[in-house]
Amino acid sequence: MENSLSAAAITHNLATHFIGKRVIYYPKLTSTMRVAKQEAQQGAVEGTVVIAGEQTAGRGRIKRAWLSPKGSIALSIILYPGAVYLPSLIMLASLAVVHSIETTTGLKSRVKWPNDVLINGRKVCGILIESNVRGHVVDYAIIGIGVNANLRLADFPEISSIATSLSDELSRDVSRLDIITRLLVEIERLYLALLSGESIYEEWRDSLVTLGRRVRVKSGKTGYYEGIAESVARDGSLLLRQSDGSLTKIVAGDVTIPE
Ligand code: BTN
Repeated sequence: MENSLSAAAITHNLATHFIGKRVIYYPKLTSTMRVAKQEAQQGAVEGTVVIAGEQTAGRGRIKRAWLSPKGSIALSIILYPGAVYLPSLIMLASLAVVHSIETTTGLKSRVKWPNDVLINGRKVCGILIESNVRGHVVDYAIIGIGVNANLRLADFPEISSIATSLSDELSRDVSRLDIITRLLVEIERLYLALLSGESIYEEWRDSLVTLGRRVRVKSGKTGYYEGIAESVARDGSLLLRQSDGSLTKIVAGDVTIPE
């Protein structure tokens, strides 16, 4: 099932106009975010994709490490969007992952605010968006996506209680190549939809497992909030109804959904 990854294999027959027209593939790399940032600073063409067969220093949100051993999918995509589109990149990336997982494997996944993708309550994919913004000008934005594709979570006890993989869910390996090519097509489709004025907010909101649930949110260095995740705003913020009746808008954070 697993065919080998290479830039040529990914670009061959890739049905996109600009995402993935240039692919830089490394069998092993520290972090695709690091290389994508260097590429973006040197003005790489929009849609350039940096992919690693495995990462040795994968980066997660909130300065956490991200495990991406052999068998995972680790890629970063360089975009140059207008500032108005920046908040939508989180929505775009998580929806593209949900769609491509379902199309290629049949597995249904949901999004945990802001941008974790879960299968049966366990994390199968993490998304990291990094951008450089000066005033109203976005120098670049990089969408980093890590998918636990062909991993035996039993081999990674440090995350096995909260994470899953596509291969564990299916009890067979998946084709990383098929998932990556589908993902690039979906990202381009949603990005072009955004640029042409379509909204992807409603679909993203409806894909969230978080809404209507009692949650605990860690935001900033020390802030913890608890309440009902009532809704999300169009800029992607979480609207949390606290026990005193107040509605708090949380721009970034880490959500725990108690059992
Ligand atoms: C998270 O959930 O904390 C985000 C994880 C993002 C991981 C991806 S893997 C590809 C890209 N390169 C990195 O070093 N990180 C992102």
